[in-house]
Amino acid sequence: MSDLKSEQSGQAAREAGAPKKLFIKTYGCQMNVYDSERMAEALGGQGYEPTEDMAQADMILLNTCHIREKAAEKVYHELGRLRPLKDAKPDLKIGVAGCVAQAEGEEIMRRQPLVDLVVGPQSYHRLPQLEAKAGKGGKAIDTDFPEEDKFEHLVARPKARRAPAAFLTVQEGCDKFCAFCVVPYTRGAEVSRPVDRVLGEARDLVERGVREITLLGQNVNAYHGEDAKGRTRTLAQLIWALNEIDGLERIRFTTSHPNDMSEDLIEAHGTCAKLMPYLHLPVQSGSDHILKRMNRSHTAESYLRVIERIRAARPDILLSSDFIVGFPEESDADFEATLELIREVRYGQAYSFKYSSRPGTPAAERALVDEGAASERLARIQALLTEQQREVQDEMIGREVSVMFERKGRHEGQMVGKSEYLHAVHVGDNPAQVGDIRRVRIIGSTTNSLRGALI
Ligand code: 5AD
Ligand code: SF4
Repeated sequence: MSDLKSEQSGQAAREAGAPKKLFIKTYGCQMNVYDSERMAEALGGQGYEPTEDMAQADMILLNTCHIREKAAEKVYHELGRLRPLKDAKPDLKIGVAGCVAQAEGEEIMRRQPLVDLVVGPQSYHRLPQLEAKAGKGGKAIDTDFPEEDKFEHLVARPKARRAPAAFLTVQEGCDKFCAFCVVPYTRGAEVSRPVDRVLGEARDLVERGVREITLLGQNVNAYHGEDAKGRTRTLAQLIWALNEIDGLERIRFTTSHPNDMSEDLIEAHGTCAKLMPYLHLPVQSGSDHILKRMNRSHTAESYLRVIERIRAARPDILLSSDFIVGFPEESDADFEATLELIREVRYGQAYSFKYSSRPGTPAAERALVDEGAASERLARIQALLTEQQREVQDEMIGREVSVMFERKGRHEGQMVGKSEYLHAVHVGDNPAQVGDIRRVRIIGSTTNSLRGALI
């Protein structure tokens, strides 16, 4: 449909009292994916329903991420590209949410007047009021860290069916202040949601067809939510409580800090049947000098000891991590120490990034390493991580795994799902339904996924 036609049909639909359309573009981490769902629900009460087609939208929200390079510039660029849509439909509301909204605040409206609404990650529950203000032609902005709990206001939802795998935010913010990271500034101090709220939301998800829940938090293993008796509960205790929910089959959590891998959480990996054998545990660097300058408050050795304990509890666990190369002062020897740590751990999967300075963080004051050296290190670390990923995938061939199917594949009769190790697995001639969990034998490995056959 041409933009003009879709605009005309959108106009007709609005005149007929049909719901308004909301388009959300989500950048960055899984927490933003979760937040986008909650924003859609908050605006559902204002008569908005989601659309996949930007040209149909009455409101466009960019849910932004500030973690890496030139995040704000990319948002301004994207906003500039919305100009023709706004010109064609002056009623169109444009909003910026997420961490760039938090960091830039009013500056966004100054630099890009087509923006009607700016909302930070702690204020999504106020979206209905903000939308109403923007609807009257005003400019609406909220980047507070309010006293009230935003999650409390986001519970009234229609009982629509859900995809079988869902995210659930249990903790937000971070008190660690790694020298490169904006999270403590954009998401604020560490806050845990109460146990009962989390369990209530999990039960609700299960009623709606969810079988796997990934607990989210910037520092999820620092979780310390209160239970109904006022006791502080750990992430492991929360997982054990979730383990009791009938119909919930799989539990995961991300992202964790090595120093918060407590004994009970490590033990749960060996004893809790629903907790999946996959752990994302960022280390960032293998050099103690760099780790110190990053303010990570752990050493390479202490990280390796944590990995050792986790593997003792669950020998087949698949490990993942984040790495930053080219951090200020990183020498060749520091970088070699990182490669050494990678060889020692053997990751099944990992992310690596070239350091980019984030304004307002302590490391932003420091001299950068040579750009060419940083690029070369990134290429080398990625080659090693890819090699390990391929090896770990190849070792799966011949093994039996359990796969939860999430969607149809590209080929006739094919279904795609995730193994307990979070590998994507494609299975042909597959009569399974979305949400089914089946035993599968792995028969092949490709770049980023495995092929399997039902047993
Ligand atoms: N530069 C590069 N990578 C960064 N990350 C966070 N901040 C920066 C930065 N300034 C990476 C870290 C973190 C992941 C989510 O993003 O590796 O674990
Ligand atoms: Fe950022 Fe993670 Fe460090 Fe917190 S622990 S400051 S979120 S990198």
